Amino acid sequence: MPPEKTKRACVIGWPVKHSRSPVIHGYWLKKYGLKGSYEAVAVPPDGLEKFLRGLPRDYAGCNITLPHKEEALGLMDEVDPLARKAGAVNTVAVRPGGKLYGFNTDIHGFTRNLESAGKAWQKKKPALVVGAGGASRAVVAALVGAGCATIYITNRTPERLRLLGEELSAAFGVSLHLVGWHDREDALATVDLVVNTTSQGMEGAPALELDLRKLKDGALVADLIYTPLETPLLREAVRRHHPTVGGLGMLLHQAAPGFEAWFGVKPEVDEELRKVVEDDLAKAK
Ligand code: ATR
Repeated sequence: MPPEKTKRACVIGWPVKHSRSPVIHGYWLKKYGLKGSYEAVAVPPDGLEKFLRGLPRDYAGCNITLPHKEEALGLMDEVDPLARKAGAVNTVAVRPGGKLYGFNTDIHGFTRNLESAGKAWQKKKPALVVGAGGASRAVVAALVGAGCATIYITNRTPERLRLLGEELSAAFGVSLHLVGWHDREDALATVDLVVNTTSQGMEGAPALELDLRKLKDGALVADLIYTPLETPLLREAVRRHHPTVGGLGMLLHQAAPGFEAWFGVKPEVDEELRKVVEDDLAKAK
């Protein structure tokens, strides 16, 4: 029998060096004693097609991060229906014969992360999504998938809000409620979940401007940001006795389906993994 081939996977992005995916997949490869590797590869915006064409030669698949998630969708041989609806692919698996299959594990990652809040996440109750960029697509897809009855979206730039609202309403066959930026705080009184998908609150950026005074008692506050682990929004939510969910759990959970597809083991998101990634984030400061 020929020796077992080492399976390789990677994350591609531009820039990519900040990615924590090599730490997560490296942890699992070691934990499960698998013969495999996972690396970060910098792929410039005009190099995506060439890279993906060559992917089957070297890799079992890859993760895709900014700015490639939307363009990648058009370069797949086959796309998971949910990823197509969300308009973004963040994970690719090379099928036997070299065909590229694209899916979106951000959706799964966000859902699993909210589930970690237990009863504080009331799936079907109204939610407000702040931001209309790439990240909000996966969040809306996850909320629709969970059966959320009323989804409000707000965004600083009205044109972007309108475009995303139209696209996602048509894709998912639901009516999303668009909320003007100046009315966002009024919407807080009617929702049981608020999600920040903007870059505001990230290290080096100002805090998200969202006064939580009107937020319903007991409403869950989620942030996709994980640097810092506790954003100003989450800190304020805690101060006001709201349950919260940070962004790190989504990062960890989104990694699992890719790992399983490439290396054949369903990995566990455990406390030790969380600690390893938290330490790595602290080291990078
Ligand atoms: P991603 O793909 O990570 O979502 P993005 O597509 O650049 O990144 O989207 C960034 C989001 O953060 C957008 O909703 C953006 O709002 P605009 O459409 O108005 O740009 C939001 N954002 C960025 N800076 C912001 C700010 N200062 N105040 C409010 N929202 C901001």
